[in-house]
Amino acid sequence: MIDRSAIEQSPSCPRNSLDRKRVYTSPFNAKAVAGTLPQRVMIFDTTLRDGEQTPGVALSVEDKVAISQALSDLGVDVIEAGFPAASDGEKEAFRRIEALGLSPRICGLARCNKKDIDAAVDCGLDYVHTFIATSDCHLQHKLRMTREEVKARAVESVEYAKGRGVTVEFSCEDATRTDLDFLKEMHIAVQEAKVDKINVPDTVGTISPPAMEYLIAELMTVTKVPIAVHCHDDFGLAVANSLAAVRSGAQQVHVTVNGLGERAGNAALEETVLGLMAFYNVETSIDTRRIGPLSKLVSRLSGIPVPDNKAIIGGNAFAHESGIHVHGVLADPSTYEAFGPELVGVQRNIVIGKHSGAHSVKDKLEGYGIDLTDEQIEQIVSKVKKLADSGKDVDDAELVALASHIMGQRESKKVKLKEFAVFTGMNTTPTAVVSIDINGEKKTGTSTGIGPVDAAINAIKAVMGNDISLEEYRLSAITGGSDSLCEVTVKVGKNGGSKAMSVGKAVGTDIVQSSVDATMEALDRLYCRKKE
Ligand code: KIV
Ligand code: ZN
Repeated sequence: MIDRSAIEQSPSCPRNSLDRKRVYTSPFNAKAVAGTLPQRVMIFDTTLRDGEQTPGVALSVEDKVAISQALSDLGVDVIEAGFPAASDGEKEAFRRIEALGLSPRICGLARCNKKDIDAAVDCGLDYVHTFIATSDCHLQHKLRMTREEVKARAVESVEYAKGRGVTVEFSCEDATRTDLDFLKEMHIAVQEAKVDKINVPDTVGTISPPAMEYLIAELMTVTKVPIAVHCHDDFGLAVANSLAAVRSGAQQVHVTVNGLGERAGNAALEETVLGLMAFYNVETSIDTRRIGPLSKLVSRLSGIPVPDNKAIIGGNAFAHESGIHVHGVLADPSTYEAFGPELVGVQRNIVIGKHSGAHSVKDKLEGYGIDLTDEQIEQIVSKVKKLADSGKDVDDAELVALASHIMGQRESKKVKLKEFAVFTGMNTTPTAVVSIDINGEKKTGTSTGIGPVDAAINAIKAVMGNDISLEEYRLSAITGGSDSLCEVTVKVGKNGGSKAMSVGKAVGTDIVQSSVDATMEALDRLYCRKKE
């Protein structure tokens, strides 16, 4: 334990000891640090176990392998990769993950019985998380066992698992609704059976942060092995409860990426880790810059979208629209950002809408290499406000189109599509051929892809050169039915977007044609721009 009362923060524009990473938290956090904070907190990720218990989520073996690799790159300490006794697929996933030889410990969940523990150990695991419910509610209605029977089963299981030579973490399921004296008795009993860590699950998310602080402080009086905490989000307090537990001395937190998990989910990895670092200045082994990409991977593979207003990794977490905010952020991000988006591997987004001012429009257009006079910017701002008042959003492609219109540009295309064909079907690799006129010179290219759109865009890239990259592709249906209109927005970059960005949009009934048109429009803009 260390005394953290010495964490210093300047009162004006507070920058704590994560200053180098640009974290601007309240100076009052330093007033709330406790002598019981551990120096380092272990991150136990249960995305592949509790996260997979999210209604509607089923991960394939390949998905689990990919997420495990990403969790390892992120730096978690333990990956709870599933429940080995649940299925053959689950066992296969464990074998494949073990074979990767990742740095985190790989753990499997097991009920307190020999069959479950054997299933975990027989997958080659050396870390088992075993649990049994201890609240009277679960004892009466679910297990139909007495407290003594439950305690005996827990002890027997921990001894059995230890006898098989593995690290054992034990949980009293529904701990936060368990009688405190009995909970302490359980902790003492499993420690006598040589358990390695004890987890305290808030199984139904029913505790409050001050109560969690109290509970962990009480349990610390009888627990000599590290205490972990596993919080559910039924009241939206999973992260707050995890932080409260750490404040009282818990040395490990169970988390899931994007807060996936049973019902309302578990404590979100991204929020918990940032909270630990920003509010307590405790060490974790996490490379926070990988959080954004990991969140996207898990969202894609689980099929659970991240809400725009989700902290840290939501689409709006670093989006600014109102003129006042954009002005502030452009002058100094600390005015309206708690920390820089680069810290968590995502990007700031200046959104153009009803509340936008000249600063936002100017900044946004400069990002696309478009420099306008103040008067021209004002014209665009008033046009944007009119559109917004009539309920119409203005995305980047439309803003760039408005700017081109005001500049009276786009008279002559420098990059024109001359011919285009794509071949696709069953058991054939989608292949596309395009001919493009670039400044009067016709060039032809061909390429394949995982689908016809991918093949077409790859063929365009083959003509335009390797320095052109597809930075963003968005497709939406405008009307219903198989003949519906679709809208495609494409953002392209030169030299990975570091040198120049451009955007194009097209609407049509044919997805492939619209994708090609949008890409060509973006490329033409890129070639027409005066400024690099
Ligand atoms: O929420 C819970 O209690 C659990 C246990 C298996 C630890 O997920
Ligand atoms: Zn759980």
